[in-house]
Amino acid sequence: MAEKPGGKKRTTKAATELCAVNDIPDGGSNGFFIDTADGRLLYMAIRRGAKAFVYVNSCPHTGMPLDFQPGQFLNAGRTLIQCSTHGAQFRIDDGYCVSGPCEGDNLTAVETETANPRRRPLSRAGFSS
Ligand code: FES
Repeated sequence: MAEKPGGKKRTTKAATELCAVNDIPDGGSNGFFIDTADGRLLYMAIRRGAKAFVYVNSCPHTGMPLDFQPGQFLNAGRTLIQCSTHGAQFRIDDGYCVSGPCEGDNLTAVETETANPRRRPLSRAGFSS
């Protein structure tokens, strides 16, 4: 536990399992959701070998999910994340928008961890107050 400014304690919440790394095709993408008390949270994951890049599935332009076809987040060359609504394109490694109506904005990155080296689940780290 860590002490927050003002004396409130911050507790580390157990990571939420999002998917197994093998649920994401290597070089491709997939979409996931987690149901919470506050509603359904949508995520996208792009895999490059043993590494996965995870973002909230919400376009900074309008807040719409990026995938028109479920799980399809990449452009034809599989080099950029592409929003299916108005075509904004984002770098895979940091979510920065390089073209489109929200150029210069960023996707919201999700901190993840791979806790079990055998199953290699991709978990979403989180904190609660
Ligand atoms: S909603 Fe994504 S570019 Fe407009």
